[in-house]
Amino acid sequence: MRTDDSAALVGKGTEGWLRPGQSTLLRGLDEQQAFGAALLDQVPAGAVLFLEGELGAGKTSLTQGIARRLGFTGTVSSPTYALMQPYPTPGGQLLHVDAYRVQHPGELYDMGLDDLIEGSRLSVIEWGQALYGDYPQATLLRLEHVPGDEDVRRVTRVR
Ligand SMILES: Nc1ncnc2c1ncn2[C@@H]1O[C@H](COP(=O)(O)OP(=O)(O)OP(=O)(O)O)[C@@H](O)[C@H]1O
Ligand SMILES: [Mg+2]
Repeated sequence: MRTDDSAALVGKGTEGWLRPGQSTLLRGLDEQQAFGAALLDQVPAGAVLFLEGELGAGKTSLTQGIARRLGFTGTVSSPTYALMQPYPTPGGQLLHVDAYRVQHPGELYDMGLDDLIEGSRLSVIEWGQALYGDYPQATLLRLEHVPGDEDVRRVTRVR
């Protein structure tokens, strides 16, 4: 993992991970997945992680890294068909939510979102803007392409 200029200037947090407002650059799929794996040590059981970023920004790749770290050997795909996809892993359940087609958060709550989150080691929620206010403790990461370098993504911890 390499920090970009802004992150290097302010330095990493004492916990050795991104503080809110900091960014870092991830080169290649391996670093994208390693970032996800490292993130797992920063959040308690039952935590929520929001991911935002355009198509191909690396949301699923980061989630795959989390799953691997939990000992899951299967494939994590973009949760396009299932709104909510629980993956059972040796390290506990990983919940993957795609709220893109959700008109109102109530739809997810009616499907048992709170219980699923509570029963998961970590819940990764994509396109979850409508839920940000309901989970004020949740980490929010923004993933972006870096113009001119197809092999790099910028990840910013928004909160
Ligand atoms: N840090 C990185 N550097 C270079 N390539 C990357 C990086 N992270 C992911 N990729 C590649 O970018 C492509 C898209 O990644 P991914 O599927 O994770 O994006 P996504 O945000 O989930 O997209 P979508 O919104 O379409 O589901 C994949 O081919 C992946 O290998
Ligand atoms: Mg995806």
